[in-house]
Amino acid sequence: MIIKNAKIINSQKPVSIIIENEKIKKIDLENDFEKYKDNEIIDANYNYVIAGIIDPHTHMRDPGLTHKEDFNSGSKAAARGGITTFLDMPNTIPNTITKENLIQKKSMMAGKSYVDYGFHFGGSKTDNSEDIKLIKNEAASTKIFLNASTGNMLIEDDKILEKLFEASKIVSVHAEDKMVDKATKIAKRTGTTLYLCHLSLASEIDLLKRAKDSGMKIYGEATPHHLFLNTENINEKNKMLLRMKPELKEKIDNEALWKAIKDGTIDTIGTDHAPHLLKEKLEKLTFGIPSIEHSLELMLKKVKDSTIDLKLLTKIMSENSAKIFGIKNKGILKEGYDGDLAIIDLNNESEIREEDIITKAAWSPYIKFKRGGRVIMTILRGNIVYKYDLNNEDIFYSGFGKEVFYY
Ligand code: DOR
Ligand code: ZN
Ligand code: ZN
Repeated sequence: MIIKNAKIINSQKPVSIIIENEKIKKIDLENDFEKYKDNEIIDANYNYVIAGIIDPHTHMRDPGLTHKEDFNSGSKAAARGGITTFLDMPNTIPNTITKENLIQKKSMMAGKSYVDYGFHFGGSKTDNSEDIKLIKNEAASTKIFLNASTGNMLIEDDKILEKLFEASKIVSVHAEDKMVDKATKIAKRTGTTLYLCHLSLASEIDLLKRAKDSGMKIYGEATPHHLFLNTENINEKNKMLLRMKPELKEKIDNEALWKAIKDGTIDTIGTDHAPHLLKEKLEKLTFGIPSIEHSLELMLKKVKDSTIDLKLLTKIMSENSAKIFGIKNKGILKEGYDGDLAIIDLNNESEIREEDIITKAAWSPYIKFKRGGRVIMTILRGNIVYKYDLNNEDIFYSGFGKEVFYY
């Protein structure tokens, strides 16, 4: 496959990108696509082509909660959003907390995804440190809940926590406020790499910054909702919908998060895509909101208003996640890496509409929000998995997604 007339971040002039055997073979700075005539040629039309987005934090609900989302529907939403790899969280039913569970989940999900994927393993309150040791390199991290959330995975026993951290190469933690401090201290004692999911408070960022300065291997994630929404968005009508863990915070916290993105304290954007049906959201208290198909298009707004540049966007939305979780051959638009790309039209600043929703949850907190650009094609290892065609219709191609490898 040749992608001609591609704007890329590191070149002033348009280039051609040649993908062969699923990998980027060459980035031709002369844009000399003529010499590759016999191949499938895609015209990027002088739009930006960026490395496919990696979403390190999603809840695809499969198995067990597939009325909310499943691997097929959730990954389709990912493809629509320019996401070529996502990592799935373990609070499915059963929880992904034994080697057996993980093997079973892998075989059940094989062939269902539009894009590439990986799994986080779950830490268990009954102490599954032996399983954690067994599945090394089979999962992205051990996810540990230090606060209660969807599912029943909260762990409060300090001795068990210590054992789980000790057994893990990298722990992803759901920790809010004071619990961030607790997680950091355990990670420091056990020498474990720590990934702080969904930071939402200015004070949590201060803590992360100090931990980084002290030389710890520690990383921080921010979600689109904690960046774009705050308590001022909550009203009588949407107050049940806008419930999530961590809850929305104040405007000053949004600002602290943007500052932390700019100064490198925040490493990644994870959507925490957490679908629940509208009916479920309205009937009883549920935590989480869907967002995977809109994260890139929302983040592009901040490229448009010059808060961040496209280079930083691709770093926090792709490159850093690949590096932190050791995902092989992904995260960079470079020769030798997987041919995972998103083509984005920065001139399309249309509003997000109901018709744009792909997730089974079938609602979005971002209706009427303006996008900073539109995903017009998503390419996975040299295969088109999504395109916005000339009639402005979404077209998807299934059957290409595979599990990632870790180094
Ligand atoms: O709001 C949330 N929803 N926070 C979480 O930690 C879990 C997630 C879910 O799985 O619903
Ligand atoms: Zn969480
Ligand atoms: Zn989550």
